[in-house]
Amino acid sequence: MKHFVSVEDLQAAQVRSLIARASFFKNGGTVPQFSEPVYASNLFFENSTRTHCSFEMAQRKLGIQTIPFDPSSSSVSKGESLYDTLLALNSLGIQLVVIRHSKVGYYRPLINPTEHQQLKMGIINAGDGNGQHPSQSLLDMMTIFEQFGSFAGLKIVIVGDLINSRVARSNMELLHSLGAALYFSGPSCWYSPEFDAYGQYLTLDEIISEMDVVMLLRVQHERHTDENGFSTADYYEHYGMTLKRYARLKDDAIIMHPGPVNRGVEFATELVEAPKSRFTAQMKNGVFMRMAMLEAVIRGRHLGGL
Ligand code: CP
Repeated sequence: MKHFVSVEDLQAAQVRSLIARASFFKNGGTVPQFSEPVYASNLFFENSTRTHCSFEMAQRKLGIQTIPFDPSSSSVSKGESLYDTLLALNSLGIQLVVIRHSKVGYYRPLINPTEHQQLKMGIINAGDGNGQHPSQSLLDMMTIFEQFGSFAGLKIVIVGDLINSRVARSNMELLHSLGAALYFSGPSCWYSPEFDAYGQYLTLDEIISEMDVVMLLRVQHERHTDENGFSTADYYEHYGMTLKRYARLKDDAIIMHPGPVNRGVEFATELVEAPKSRFTAQMKNGVFMRMAMLEAVIRGRHLGGL
């Protein structure tokens, strides 16, 4: 593929192939050898630990030359647009960019060749506002596949700050297309009727004992204009993974969280690394899935002699 910006158009076969490739890398499979250098840059206009560092780790493991880019010390601070920034980096020889940006769909004009004739670089979306987070979604698919070996018929509940979450949006689209039975839970102020197309909105305690996967979301205070009287104690009581709820999970159920975790809000602190939690497995898988995604774009653009 030429760009990797969304899960919207991914077919089931592509998801399985990316999981197989990421698992191959995870199990020590040989990385492709470039016959000429591949240059990339990571542009994070929103903060990140996992996504930024794991893309960088994936790039190092693949042998990509990564040119550092810090928005706060770049000419973005002088008012240079995202497009002109990319045009500059592309002119210097950078062929791939990984971008995280607060604007939903920032990538659409950038990947439209009729709007921009001279920009010739692969764009990988590392998260756009509450739009898409394809690398998180695919590492989540890998983690679920490792546990269950399939998606069809799995019962999965996504819990919490649904409306502000790009992880929720990408995962509901992908899991629905892969045949999982989806459920939603969380405060009604963070639910939207548009999610009805993907699953049922229920209270967590009604369904928790039937779920194969409980996917917790971070409460995204930085995106709330009005906290609607939010109380961490109330949230934890109604939607948190407490010891009591953990005890009601099926034997082979798993708990997921994209991170960062608000301990004691979405997740009891003593459960973050509990046997059913896949919190660290998700982060480990992220490196290998991002290797598979980078490789797909490198091959799609015939970079590095591939
Ligand atoms: N899950 C996730 O995107 O984490 P970071 O914000 O730390 O990258």
